[in-house]
Amino acid sequence: MTQLSHASATGHQKPPAILSLIGDTPLVEVTRLETGLCQLFLKLESHNPTGSIKDRVALAMIEAAERDGKLEPGGTIIEATAGNTGLGLALIAGAKGYRIILVIPDKMSQEKIAHVRALGAEVRLTRSDVTRGHPEYYQDMAARLATEIPGAFYVNQFGNPANPLAHERGTGPEIWEQMGHHLDAVVCGVGSGGTITGLSRFFRRVQPNLEMVLADPAGSILVDFVKSGNVGTAGSWAVEGIGEDFVPDIADLSRVSQAYTIEDAESFATARDLLRQEGILGGSSTGTLLAAALRYCRAQSHKKRVVTFVADDGNKYLSKMYNDFWMAEQGFTSRPAQGDLSDLISHRYEAGEVVTVGPGDTLLTAVTRMRSADVSQVPVVDESGRPVGILDESDVLVKVHHDPERFNHAVHTAMTDRLETLAPTAKMKDLLEVFDRGRVAIVMEGNKFLGLITRSDLLSYLRRQMPGA
Ligand SMILES: Cc1ncc(COP(=O)(O)O)c(C=O)c1O
Repeated sequence: MTQLSHASATGHQKPPAILSLIGDTPLVEVTRLETGLCQLFLKLESHNPTGSIKDRVALAMIEAAERDGKLEPGGTIIEATAGNTGLGLALIAGAKGYRIILVIPDKMSQEKIAHVRALGAEVRLTRSDVTRGHPEYYQDMAARLATEIPGAFYVNQFGNPANPLAHERGTGPEIWEQMGHHLDAVVCGVGSGGTITGLSRFFRRVQPNLEMVLADPAGSILVDFVKSGNVGTAGSWAVEGIGEDFVPDIADLSRVSQAYTIEDAESFATARDLLRQEGILGGSSTGTLLAAALRYCRAQSHKKRVVTFVADDGNKYLSKMYNDFWMAEQGFTSRPAQGDLSDLISHRYEAGEVVTVGPGDTLLTAVTRMRSADVSQVPVVDESGRPVGILDESDVLVKVHHDPERFNHAVHTAMTDRLETLAPTAKMKDLLEVFDRGRVAIVMEGNKFLGLITRSDLLSYLRRQMPGA
């Protein structure tokens, strides 16, 4: 593998054909969401090989460095990112046979880190709690590594002119052709500013009247900067890939004529709507862009043709924005409050949200189910839907630790059948007493099983009650 990779970097082997699939992404019209008088089209950047618009710039920046002699066969590519740019760079580095090191802040999700590692990237984890100027700040660390490693090339997408150029020469002309040279506005987000800058430059030449519309998450400083020229203090936001706390070197926002601030909750709800209504699984920023595009479209008094992006695919957000429990836990959605303990139940039995086992299931089934749902205990529910026990990992361990064959024994042989049941009308004090006894509460309304309340359900509930949450 190493040899093959090296050979491809020296030009003896063709890179895999997947690289030819970067760009030339499809464009589809939104047909079911309400777009007022306008026609709205989505450029599906999710169709790039690693699932995002960043494959374009990753390829362009690597090829520019090759042309400029900044990256030579056997060289090392270095970038500070765990995001989509890292995925694109890792794919291309692997295809062309370069070593790649990604410097990643330690708050990034394990899934993203696993993905770039699986593509062959070396990962250097660094602190997430330090800012620009600190030696362990991820961008400073990447820049330093590039000076220490012979033959290293620091990509620096925030200051690399090949980044906007990829959009000026690729994304812009593609959109122009796909729209039949008939286009009035483009709605765009800003991460590094590459997309908006490249598109602004291209459309300034071919369609000077085109409106560039900025979609920005609430908390980012960019909308304020566009409207007033001020760089304010950034807040935080949960949408990924767009929004900034500074204005990147390569970002040219001078052609932005309208700018919309979109709250996380609206971004997520809009992305989910896109999936339900149009069948398109976009990432979280897709929700921000689409929400801004829909506002823009609905505000127009005559028909316009508008393009926005599905900048990355939604697969990496399945356990977040597309997960109802995550949305509820983060406070983005809520059920009507009952004003009693049932408000603390995160997974409702009646709605099929509780992972359960039957008393006759094997312990192996129970453990497999607990693993895949990432829970450490399950209620044992009989055929009539009545809870008859609780099984937790320690119950199973006590049973099987001398004899693993007992994984084949039935759940009822290991479960705890002394249940702590509470009515929804019980008091918080009763709940805390259940926790003090080291147990979980089973909430029953008469004979009807509503769900469990665990310590972590109570913590999530209390966090949502925090002022300003
Ligand atoms: C997920 C995601 N990444 C990146 C971008 C664009 O980033 P950049 O400004 O770096 O071109 C967007 C823009 O919509 C985006 O949604």
